[in-house]
Amino acid sequence: MKKSFYVTTPIYYPSNKLHIGHSYTTVAADAIARYKRLRGYDVMFLTGTDEHGQKIERRALEEDKSPQEFVDSIVDWIKDLWATMDISYDKFIRTTDPEHKEIVAKIFKKLYDQDDIYKSEYEGLYCTPCESFFTEHQLVNGKCPDCGREVERVKEESYFFRLSKYQDRLIKHIEDNPEFLMPQTRQNEMLNNFLKVGLEDLCVSRTSFTWGVPVSFDEKHVVYVWLDALSNYITALGYMTDHDKDFKKYWPANVQLVGKEIVRFHAIIWPAILMALGEELPKQIFGHGWLIINGGKMSKSIGNVVDPSILVERYGSDAIRYFLLREVAFGQDGNFSNNALISRINSDLANDLGNLTSRTVAMIEKYFNGQITNKGHASPFDAHVKQTIKNNVELMEDSMEKLFFNNALEHIWNIIRRLNKYIDETTPWILAKDPENKEKLMGVLHTLVEGIRIVGIMIEPFMPTTPKKIFEQLGITSAKLTQWDSIHEFGLIKKISVQKGDNLFPRIDLEKELEALEAIQNPAKESEKEEEPSITIEDFSKVKLKIGEVISSEKVKKADKLLVSKIKIGSEIRTIVSGIAKFYSPEEFVGKKVVVVTNLAPVKLRGIISEGMILCAENDQGELVTIAPEKDIMSGSTIK
Ligand code: MSP
Repeated sequence: MKKSFYVTTPIYYPSNKLHIGHSYTTVAADAIARYKRLRGYDVMFLTGTDEHGQKIERRALEEDKSPQEFVDSIVDWIKDLWATMDISYDKFIRTTDPEHKEIVAKIFKKLYDQDDIYKSEYEGLYCTPCESFFTEHQLVNGKCPDCGREVERVKEESYFFRLSKYQDRLIKHIEDNPEFLMPQTRQNEMLNNFLKVGLEDLCVSRTSFTWGVPVSFDEKHVVYVWLDALSNYITALGYMTDHDKDFKKYWPANVQLVGKEIVRFHAIIWPAILMALGEELPKQIFGHGWLIINGGKMSKSIGNVVDPSILVERYGSDAIRYFLLREVAFGQDGNFSNNALISRINSDLANDLGNLTSRTVAMIEKYFNGQITNKGHASPFDAHVKQTIKNNVELMEDSMEKLFFNNALEHIWNIIRRLNKYIDETTPWILAKDPENKEKLMGVLHTLVEGIRIVGIMIEPFMPTTPKKIFEQLGITSAKLTQWDSIHEFGLIKKISVQKGDNLFPRIDLEKELEALEAIQNPAKESEKEEEPSITIEDFSKVKLKIGEVISSEKVKKADKLLVSKIKIGSEIRTIVSGIAKFYSPEEFVGKKVVVVTNLAPVKLRGIISEGMILCAENDQGELVTIAPEKDIMSGSTIK
């Protein structure tokens, strides 16, 4: 029977379209899954979407959609993206799947029945974009330590999970199993920053919104999104159902890949839940680094995101996948730039791999009418080539076990570069001049196709479509010559007829392409140049801005987005209606100093005359934050 192997990615929030940073985790998981399949494992590769929670509920409301309609449209887009990136997942779970919801409710009930979950009251700070609770001392400058955004004070009757009870067992597990949490630096982070500081029980239900899995025995509560989301790794396998054969077969997971900012949830909360359920822990959690742009994390609110579908369309999915796993040491942060991407495509793919293949095929066509056999004579360089292949095959396999993808690729490219050098050393074009050297020439070309065959197999986990093109050009049809074990044997090709095809990776004109990409990736900038002419200081001074102080505020009836407030601007008091009710309660709004546009023509909103506008900044989630003076200053002060 085949050995099983279970690999997971985090499940993605469908609140945004995914960027190239998101696809990094999935491409890595796909490379592992494909590699293990090639090595004969029965693989389960799980990915999916994390669809509940307040953030999604708010986004849906803003778009006037039901949460379900909202997530459905994005989930289809995500599935399309994975298809274009050749992601070979075996299962795609959605936390809105009815079966997932049922099992989450059962898990919650079981933990409650055995007193791992209890009812109490939560008062504290919550970051909605991260769906995370924080204590006062965890905040950084009063803001969310993970994303830097405002947190909200919430007070609710809540259920709590006895996380603190598992603290010592978690510490022991991490210390006794050095492979459990990788890379090693993540172990120190978790132990020193969280586990040894002391764990508090975790609030695992919410009552202030409804978009989630209801607690079966207390329906005004919905299950905390992280408890809901983390459970996906076992609900997808039919855990706690009568059809749990996948759970029996695949659990515990062999490796769960996560980005570094969510290691905390996976290395503390998730194992504690599993301990409480009496289940085995995953064998490994691997916390990879971020793909960053100009030193910062790629993020929609900063506006530096790169859309993977544009890149895939221009260069093909294999090139993008190659770049992601080659450029960055898995576990560390790595920079993304269009320049680095195109340079790698040109040097590693077009020059090294593409040229090796096209030169070899062209020479076989030219010197042997496309046909070669294993009857040639060995050259003096063959022994070294074979040894290089043997060593690098071993090193590549070892790197794959450790998830050192960039090293694995480096070892494959050592072989490719050695083969290119072999062409220079053996100079087939000189051998071809003398018919006496026919056997030698045949031997050289045979060594080259053997090497390319082996490379073609080794790149498959990373570049699923290129091997097929290579084998077509080499005329290799037998499955025996393309399966993994055949890379350990050099010289298997007996007779082949090659056929030249398209360039595997056409060279790209770097400068032209960078310009073209910039125009596509930042159309806003381009159109700003054309459509937004600059204004003069006189134009600007037409807008009168003053500091105001909110002295009262209430919700506008039947308009859940609007607050109507009295704003004191010097000696004057104005009524202003603002679309910020989703982001500020009337209570927290009162007392704030705000920036008001005072010479805006009054407008009637829901029957109320609004005499001005309060300025806000908007992030990529459409959330609004008022702009406040940096130091205390009297209301009525002019802004210039
Ligand atoms: N929904 C949670 C995960 C729940 S798992 C039970 C979540 N979703 S996410 O959509 O925000 O992120 C999904 C994955 O993408 C995470 O592993 C995250 O680290 C990864 N990345 C998002 N931006 C990234 C980069 N810029 N670079 C590398 N990976 C990044 O978190």
